[in-house]
Amino acid sequence: MSEAPILSVHNASRHYRSGEAVVRALDGVSFDIHPGEVVGILGPSGSGKSTLLLIAGLLEPPTTGEIYIRDRLVSEPGADLDSLRDFRRKNIGFVFQKANLIPFLTAVENVALTLEIDDVPARAARDYASHLLGSVDLAHRVGNLPTRLSGGEQQRVAVARALANDPALVLADEPTAALDGIRGRQVISLFREIADARRAGVVVVTHDPRVQDLFDRTIELRDGWIVGENVTRRAERSLPRYCDR
Ligand SMILES: Nc1ncnc2c1ncn2[C@@H]1O[C@H](COP(=O)(O)OP(=O)(O)OP(=O)(O)O)[C@@H](O)[C@H]1O
Ligand SMILES: [Mg+2]
Repeated sequence: MSEAPILSVHNASRHYRSGEAVVRALDGVSFDIHPGEVVGILGPSGSGKSTLLLIAGLLEPPTTGEIYIRDRLVSEPGADLDSLRDFRRKNIGFVFQKANLIPFLTAVENVALTLEIDDVPARAARDYASHLLGSVDLAHRVGNLPTRLSGGEQQRVAVARALANDPALVLADEPTAALDGIRGRQVISLFREIADARRAGVVVVTHDPRVQDLFDRTIELRDGWIVGENVTRRAERSLPRYCDR
């Protein structure tokens, strides 16, 4: 029997009222993310990418449609998202379009906080946070406050923070936007490792052409709709050997 998808989005839309007009930020989108998949969401500015992540991350309710995480219905129109706070914290790692670090905590404290909220002892939380920061090449910056980190360094702290609670689903909004090509690929490769090792599902919104070959699949949005899907890496990897020639 095949594993249940980590994330299923069923016919989700999100409409915002703007005076008399209604903005259809998302307009009937359906897709699944399976365990071990790293999927890119592409599309022009304003096409609904961030809205889609907010809905999938249970940070906003859909106007229509349902969100399932591991076959459990977790969000539908009118859902009380506050009651899902614990579920969200345990299951979802979110990297926001802006790093959103807590300004008076150092890099390592920002990452460790996620674990301490879950009652991990402070010492163990700090050790694991330092380890995660090492995996985004920030071992030498663990004691810096966000104001003493570059934009790209802050973004990498935000990536480490999103991974701290070992989430089944990682949602990242332009996590490589402030990074150079090599660091950008490192971040997506780290997502890849987590997807492979822990069977997590990862969804990455990106405009960055330098990382697109690292996705298993890409989904393209335009005006709140899915206008295209491309299977990339996973298809190549799963080809039987005799197809190589
Ligand atoms: N809270 C809101 N109220 C009203 N309209 C909104 C709101 N949030 C988003 N929108 C609108 O919904 C549309 C989709 O926005 P969204 O932020 O999802 O786009 P995006 O694809 O992430 O764009 P970008 O690449 O610029 O980040 C846009 O037209 C935006 O103006
Ligand atoms: Mg956006």
